[in-house]
Amino acid sequence: MYAGMNAEKVASTANGRNRRIDLRSDTVTQPTEAMREAMARAEVGDDVYGEDYTVRALEEKVAALMGKEAAVYVSSGTQSNLLGVLSHCQRGEEYLIGDVYHVFKSEALGTSVLGGVACYPMKTDAGGGLDPAQVKAGIKPDDPHSPITRLLCLENTVSGRVQDQDRIEALAETAHAAGLMVHLDGARLMNAVVKTGKPATELVRSIDTVSLCLSKGLGAPVGSVLSGPKDFIKRARRMRKMLGGGMRQAGVIAAAGLHALDHHVERLAEDHVNARRLAEGLAAIPGLTVDLDDVDTNMLFIRPQPDDIDPLRAHLAERGIVLSGQRPKIRVVTHLDVTEQDVDRVLEAVAEFYRGR
Ligand SMILES: Cc1ncc(COP(=O)(O)O)c(C=O)c1O
Repeated sequence: MYAGMNAEKVASTANGRNRRIDLRSDTVTQPTEAMREAMARAEVGDDVYGEDYTVRALEEKVAALMGKEAAVYVSSGTQSNLLGVLSHCQRGEEYLIGDVYHVFKSEALGTSVLGGVACYPMKTDAGGGLDPAQVKAGIKPDDPHSPITRLLCLENTVSGRVQDQDRIEALAETAHAAGLMVHLDGARLMNAVVKTGKPATELVRSIDTVSLCLSKGLGAPVGSVLSGPKDFIKRARRMRKMLGGGMRQAGVIAAAGLHALDHHVERLAEDHVNARRLAEGLAAIPGLTVDLDDVDTNMLFIRPQPDDIDPLRAHLAERGIVLSGQRPKIRVVTHLDVTEQDVDRVLEAVAEFYRGR
């Protein structure tokens, strides 16, 4: 069931005790006043002509943050990953990927539909990781019967879990030794940066190209940035234009991304603390199962009894709390618009539900 459903049924008064608390995703955040001001003040130009200096500043900032030569600003994480894969692979070639990763599961397989590129999903372990031996075995021989394996696609974080850095290095080494490139869907890479205390440059050192989302935990209303070598980014820019993703005075939205990188990175730690406290509080409520081991950054997963799911969602909706419609495991996400007090409100509302069962 789609996570976005039924949001309109949720009681929502703008402020105060009944302020709406949306736990479906970190994509639901509202731009802050300071972010809106930065957007209003942004210097803009025609970015297709390369004349939007706010977009350029954002691209240069992210390229430096990732330690890559260049970057391109795009409309979404999906577009960023699509450009990433299609700028690496030609028709009839394939990429290897974890079977729970967003590019494989949740991007309408645009890489195959639009690019004629095949994907070869491999089972990830409980932490969302792949094994170098799996990758080695997945690479096809140079034989006319087989697709040409061109790329390894990784993800970090995976369902909120930070990936083991030694494993990432080993996976990249295996891929590179076989002549593959490595792309990372780093939609929430900055959560991993804050959690590990390691700079992004270190986390993506062995990765060739990386997609970073500005509209998840970082709180911008729109936008992602794809970083990599200069020639790769040149191809991605052409591909972005082809897909209709060349934007004009995009500095208005890029300014939100710059603001997010300047002001919303360190604060991700608050989301991590809130997620942990929420998980522990929920785990203590009889009747509800919470996978505490899975709580690494800003996500947790709860498993109510199947018959409890709809009544629980309705009970919370009446109190202005939005829970996703997934089942049997429901993802709960903390973000910029979930405060410490909101965590208390959610815990109280869930406890009230189970007291009445
Ligand atoms: C891990 C991951 N990658 C990529 C995306 C795609 O981002 P967008 O929704 O901006 O296309 C998402 C979206 O939730 C995601 O969770």
